[in-house]
Amino acid sequence: MKRILSGITPSGDGSLHIGNYLGAVRQFKKLSEDHDCFLFVADLHALTTIQQKGQLQTNIEALILNELALLGDLKNITFFRQSDVPEHTELQSILNNVTPLGLLKRAHAYKDKLQKDTTEDDINVGLFSYPMLMAADILLYKPDLVPVGKDQKQHIEIARDVAERFNRIYKKKVFKIPEPFIPEAVAVIPGTDGKRKMSKSLGNIISIFENEEVIRKQVMSTYTDPTRKHATDPGHVEGNMVFTYLEFFGEKAKIDQLKELYTKGQISDIEVKNYLFESLMKTFEKARKRYEDLKSHPEKVKKILEEGAAKAKIIAGMTMGEVRETIGLVNQYSLVSQRYHVTEHDNKENVTIDEFARIEMRVGKVTSAINKEGSDKLIRLVVDVGEEKPRIIFTAVRPFGYTPDYFLNKQFFFITNLAPRKMMDEYSQGMIMAVDGADGKPLFLSADGMPVGSKIR
Ligand code: ADP
Ligand code: TRP
Repeated sequence: MKRILSGITPSGDGSLHIGNYLGAVRQFKKLSEDHDCFLFVADLHALTTIQQKGQLQTNIEALILNELALLGDLKNITFFRQSDVPEHTELQSILNNVTPLGLLKRAHAYKDKLQKDTTEDDINVGLFSYPMLMAADILLYKPDLVPVGKDQKQHIEIARDVAERFNRIYKKKVFKIPEPFIPEAVAVIPGTDGKRKMSKSLGNIISIFENEEVIRKQVMSTYTDPTRKHATDPGHVEGNMVFTYLEFFGEKAKIDQLKELYTKGQISDIEVKNYLFESLMKTFEKARKRYEDLKSHPEKVKKILEEGAAKAKIIAGMTMGEVRETIGLVNQYSLVSQRYHVTEHDNKENVTIDEFARIEMRVGKVTSAINKEGSDKLIRLVVDVGEEKPRIIFTAVRPFGYTPDYFLNKQFFFITNLAPRKMMDEYSQGMIMAVDGADGKPLFLSADGMPVGSKIR
């Protein structure tokens, strides 16, 4: 699967509106069907404009909850926070040294700011080097595609430029040259004022997670047809924002019917707006439920972010290992963790420590052991692993000369959180642990004298 990566800055107040949903989140979700996706909340990028602790905290929380609620299941998506993966800032620092000052001076964000009403003394270096942090964000993950809005195109070009420079200077293809993915087909959603693009800063939005009354108000104040004074006047559908939004959220047959009534002057604005409101509530019903659920269970959100950061760190760590090695930071005095860099191969073949930690092993005492009737291999053990009920666990070791007597009243180590496996007419509810002996004969690990039911860590 091809890898894609994108970031979203928790600017404004961190919440998303239907323009963000249609223009960004929905695309990303679609891409995630057949791409390996990395999506992160660019909290460090928000520092260029937000320097109040409380506001930054609120924004980050809002954006995380909004995104997670809209994305739903995270199949093929690694979702994390930029500041949870310090490799982003580490790489930025290194990339600074292969980047000419002029390249950043030509960046739009900086140039525009300078031209407005601001002097160099009022622009922080964070804003100036914003494209460098973004380049680091991207290059760390070697993505095939970077889906962004049009306004971010130049930043991707800077990232490409920096990647090429680095590879050229160090004569090694460390970085993959990133490709922007700017779907032209994705329309810019106009705002409720019917004039400008829907944008948080313009206050012309329809929210997704606000309470119903707020959203109803936003819908009711949406621009329709200024030439229409009464519900009996024939109305216009083109340029009418309510119908524009309905195209995305309503049902085709119903829309056609409403359009006809509207143009004939047989239905009021309010009725059409009510239908839009209902359609929005229906479209986002599941997402709104997920939002409430996540908001009241911070531990769920934290777990998602922990898992996301752990996965992101594997990839980011691999790239940083290569970078450190390539630029000469690694030598015989380097700490082992820095000398060893994980390769893509290691990553693919290995189980992560977190994954392995999910395996549960316990001390169990065999309270009954018999040859399984109808089998010439299986011995059926009944094992006390410290739970209310004993477990039935099979072991296929009669061909090695084992008899039930060998197991009876002794203690061994058992794996206790495996999916049950059918063995003849019963299910094995775990597995006994053994070591390969010299001639392939399994040797059982004795747990005699250890507390029954204890977990191995
Ligand atoms: P806002 O303008 O509300 O602050 P952002 O600039 O933070 O939104 O944009 C976040 C993402 O949503 C970007 O990918 C952007 O392309 C997309 N987006 C924002 N507004 C719209 C819109 N009106 N129509 C389509 N996509 C939009
Ligand atoms: N600057 C991007 C924006 O404002 C957000 C972002 C930060 C990003 N790092 C990124 C997007 C890396 C794509 C890749 O929309």
